[in-house]
Amino acid sequence: MHLSRGTGRRPDPALAIAQYRRRAEHYDFELVAFEPVRRAAIARLELAEGATVIDVGCGTGLSFQPLKERIGAAGRIVGIDPSPEMLAQARLRIQRHHWTGISLVEATAHAAALHGRADAALFHFTHDVLQDEEALDNVLAHLKPGARVVAAGLQWGPPWSLPVNLFVLGAALYSVSCLGGLQQPWRLLTARLHDVRVRSPLIGGFYIACGRV
Ligand SMILES: C[S@@+](CC[C@H](N)C(=O)[O-])C[C@H]1O[C@@H](n2cnc3c(N)ncnc32)[C@H](O)[C@@H]1O
Repeated sequence: MHLSRGTGRRPDPALAIAQYRRRAEHYDFELVAFEPVRRAAIARLELAEGATVIDVGCGTGLSFQPLKERIGAAGRIVGIDPSPEMLAQARLRIQRHHWTGISLVEATAHAAALHGRADAALFHFTHDVLQDEEALDNVLAHLKPGARVVAAGLQWGPPWSLPVNLFVLGAALYSVSCLGGLQQPWRLLTARLHDVRVRSPLIGGFYIACGRV
């Protein structure tokens, strides 16, 4: 049987690649409703003009435009993603906008060969990566001391909020390869950071966590 839904306790990159192979072409339309979360998360990166930012699990590159608005032409983005189909969409986006200064690494965050140290890292809707300690260590090892790190994504809502939790369950089964950690998805990341703040916008079901290396 071909298992296409994420029900395991540990991230499964092969399953993630299969999930996003099917979604890549219509992914951007599916995410439209969640753009306010992306904007709020990127604002918390407090990026300066000319900064280098690692976009972990960059997918089709939906964060590139708001990142570029902050880092300007002199800034750099390093996008990491293991899905060839999602990265193909990201490349089309880069070509369409004639953007420079963006490099794409086709690999899991765990295995990605990164160089130098960036000023910031974004983990936007990348639950699988946040549950992989070696992936977190690899990314954080390539950030400058004091670098700002922001993660945003799905989390269980309050126990009494059945509609929110049904939504989170459905979205997670569709989007992640491991359901483990949805109570506090940021926990392994924030344990590695200072000045941590976590907030849950809207009506629960989402979080934005930020801190510094
Ligand atoms: C929900 S999408 C988010 C894409 C993008 N960050 C956004 O906000 O639109 C999750 C992305 O994480 C990628 N992904 C899954 N496992 C990964 C891993 N181990 N390392 C890096 N990226 C991963 C998937 O291929 C997919 O593109």
